[in-house]
Amino acid sequence: MSFTDEQLAQYEADGAVTIDTPFTDEELDRAEDAWDRLQASGEAAYTDPDYVDVIQHPFFEEVAKKVLRADGVHLWWGLAPHARAPSAAPYGSIRDQWAGGCHTDIQATLEDFDATPRRMRAELWFWLNDVPVNRGAMRILPGSHRPIMEYWGNVLTPEHKRMLPRVHGLRPPPVSEKAPAYPEHVPDLQDTPWIEQEPTPFVAKRGQLLILCSSALHSAWQNEDTVPRKAMGNSWIPNGVPCGMPANQREGVMDFFPQLRAKLRADRKHIVPEDFDWLFESGYEPKWPETFLEQA
Ligand SMILES: [Fe+2]
Repeated sequence: MSFTDEQLAQYEADGAVTIDTPFTDEELDRAEDAWDRLQASGEAAYTDPDYVDVIQHPFFEEVAKKVLRADGVHLWWGLAPHARAPSAAPYGSIRDQWAGGCHTDIQATLEDFDATPRRMRAELWFWLNDVPVNRGAMRILPGSHRPIMEYWGNVLTPEHKRMLPRVHGLRPPPVSEKAPAYPEHVPDLQDTPWIEQEPTPFVAKRGQLLILCSSALHSAWQNEDTVPRKAMGNSWIPNGVPCGMPANQREGVMDFFPQLRAKLRADRKHIVPEDFDWLFESGYEPKWPETFLEQA
């Protein structure tokens, strides 16, 4: 497999790494054509056999097993092709885009991340066209996942730690009072505030794969090119690891998975679980008071 131990070590240290995949040009053409069709039609992704063929390709499952140090994994998400459409000028400065957009998506502790199997989501971004720096390449602050997860491990109650990992979008201060998370936030843990640090653009070639731990700070970015950035996202969790999701996302998964499963080849059906014992509801209410100590 093209995913080396050195690349896994980079994922552990940085929270993100870009790797090569075995997809041929012909397979990439088919996948990109499916992406184009689904974008144009707005149909559910499982209706397109060429999309289904990407999701059920054994490579992603093998990558997820290695990332998660797990003998068995299943999809956690994988609902739709993802577009980063061209943005209209004027474009924000690096500083403004980062300060306005940086966030974490997965809340977990370092104990969760260091466990075997990892209690973490493996997020795989499969690029169907090139991702140069000006085409909305994702910005990531390498290594930020570690102090942030360590902090959650220090402050969360034992009861709440048992409700991790969960999808729980949080950003560094300042947090708008209108934000659903308010007053929860990712506190500044280093001398330089998170929003003043310089993120790295994760550029890639068509057919490469970004493996992300979104407990690290990252941000969407304006696409200054004339064509969209095209991705198929899929994410994975070890078998037997429960995880939380907001109600609307959970309902989306529970609607999508049986229909996707029905389209998979018999030898690939195991990547979509038959039940949802592993998926509990977890939203912004009730708040966890220990997540906004500084503003309490
Ligand atoms: Fe995100």
